[in-house]
Amino acid sequence: MSHPSHAAPQAMPRLDLYAPIHKALRAWMFDTVLRVGRTDGVDAAVLQQTLSRVESLLLICEAHIHHEQVFLHPLLEQARHHAAREADQAHLDHAREIARLRDRVWQVREAGADMRGGALMTLYRELALFTAENLTHMHWEETVHNETLWASYTDAQLMQTHDALVQSIGAQEMAETLRHMLPALSPCERIGMLSDMRAKMPPGAFEGVLALAHEVLPVHDAAALLHGLGVQPPLPMSPAPAL
Ligand SMILES: [Fe+2]
Repeated sequence: MSHPSHAAPQAMPRLDLYAPIHKALRAWMFDTVLRVGRTDGVDAAVLQQTLSRVESLLLICEAHIHHEQVFLHPLLEQARHHAAREADQAHLDHAREIARLRDRVWQVREAGADMRGGALMTLYRELALFTAENLTHMHWEETVHNETLWASYTDAQLMQTHDALVQSIGAQEMAETLRHMLPALSPCERIGMLSDMRAKMPPGAFEGVLALAHEVLPVHDAAALLHGLGVQPPLPMSPAPAL
């Protein structure tokens, strides 16, 4: 797969449907590879937590493929015949890799104490390779696919697709995605995304997003986000009256 040359930054950037979720996925993959590398299988609780993390990542990767196939590839094919062909193939390869990685997780779970370290190392290496392949693939989508989308559709049309895609996502997947996406975005991207969400979500649901932001962001970043959104930070709890 050849990569296009680096495009010059644009004065008025176009709507990038890939960037936020891909930033989240990159961070999620890096974090998971690190966790597997730090796990030795001696501590059963840590091992279970690590394997659950791998399974959550694989689930979100599968969902991500599905969202792109359903919402983005038809747009690409309408814009230009075969525009999505390479990514279609890559998604099939990724689905096979995901199934294989699930087998690797199962092998770690089933391994006796003497075989567990080796099974974990295999999982670690194969997850790292899966991450590497996804980095190449995401770069392709963010450059080649975006070029096609931007040449064929307005930002308003792309935003319609974005909103339809987001509305198709269940509450649990959305919360877990935001948990990884919010810390992976730049402050400006965070403010832009949450401003858009505030305009489109019921107030109660948006309060939940703000609570999640507080939970996953460093204090300074959370404060900058509230400031950027024009939201009053919650008052500190007043001390209990002395009896
Ligand atoms: Fe993709």
